Amino acid sequence: MKIFLAGATGALGKRLTPLLVSAGHQVVGMGRTPHKADQLRAAGAEPVIADALDADAVMHAVKAARPDAVVHELTAISANLNLKKFDDQFALTNRLRTEGTQNLLAAAQAVGATRFVAQSYAGWPNSRTGGRVKTEDDPLAPDPPKSMRRSMDAIRQLEATVANAVGIVAIALRYGSFYGPGTSIGEGGEVIEAVRRRRFPVIGGGSGVWSFIHIDDAANATRLAIEHGQPGIYNIVDDEPAEVSSWLPTLAQAVAAKPPFRLPAWIGKLAIGEAGVSMMTSVKGSSNAKAKRILGWKLIYPRWRDGFRHGLALEPISTATLRTARVYN
Ligand SMILES: NC(=O)c1ccc[n+]([C@@H]2O[C@H](COP(=O)([O-])OP(=O)(O)OC[C@H]3O[C@@H](n4cnc5c(N)ncnc54)[C@H](OP(=O)(O)O)[C@@H]3O)[C@@H](O)[C@H]2O)c1
Repeated sequence: MKIFLAGATGALGKRLTPLLVSAGHQVVGMGRTPHKADQLRAAGAEPVIADALDADAVMHAVKAARPDAVVHELTAISANLNLKKFDDQFALTNRLRTEGTQNLLAAAQAVGATRFVAQSYAGWPNSRTGGRVKTEDDPLAPDPPKSMRRSMDAIRQLEATVANAVGIVAIALRYGSFYGPGTSIGEGGEVIEAVRRRRFPVIGGGSGVWSFIHIDDAANATRLAIEHGQPGIYNIVDDEPAEVSSWLPTLAQAVAAKPPFRLPAWIGKLAIGEAGVSMMTSVKGSSNAKAKRILGWKLIYPRWRDGFRHGLALEPISTATLRTARVYN
């Protein structure tokens, strides 16, 4: 299959490109930074440099590639995220989720591509009431904190664009929080460094439930969705949604840091605002049952606690490594 991968130079794109190539696919990898063309070539992709927010440039690039599938893995999140200004920090990412998705989908439809796969998020958009783990059928949060509303609208718009796509198999993958090589929860990543400096405290009891996914498991689920996923939304998360009060001390231990400090919610709110506190205290996790059933997806790291211990550093990825990978369960 010929695959047009927007975001090929990102954390996920870097792991997905060699995986697709080793599975026999031809990859045209799109990024926005000209000097990364060599990086794309080295990973086995044909490079294209274009701005995803420029509809004409995207149409031109996709028409030149004539792919069977178009994949959206774009984001523009700053390394040092200020959660107090959540929507402002996500403004460009929100445009990539709304305009970027429309540009890529329109181009995919124009060239007669048969498959379209776009990223979404499993975590803070989930409803914060009821059970601690949500499926794809559960409603998203109707009333997220005020500073997250524009970002929530962008997620809803992306998923609606995918759901209403005509003449193409369209899929949205709600990834959990990435960890592993190249991510903020990987060797050298911002979260790991903050945990090591004890600047990532448990706030307000840490009852927020997070769903994680190792970057290589996310890449492999994406490959399967591209190859044979049925239209719809899939949660791409591991088997064990976990409270902050559980995963954060375990992560600290895994990276040989001292245990995290604990702060009451009112102090947390001064430091990271309502959105940040909600991620520490009231968000809900997600179930991966649908992705396993329909995609036939098997995880290398079904449990984040094993992934935190064994999967934070860089190892090469290919379908051969995935076939022979030890499964940590
Ligand atoms: N990190 C998580 O925990 C998480 C969770 C759920 C969903 N996701 C989603 O999963 C996807 C992959 O995430 P990631 O961590 O791999 O992202 P990343 O490392 O930040 O990579 C972002 C990619 O988007 C490209 N890009 C950004 N703005 C662009 C523009 N205007 N035009 C063209 N390309 C542009 C970047 O190109 P350059 O390299 O040239 O800048 C890069 O290839 C994203 O859509 C993200 O929102 C992430």
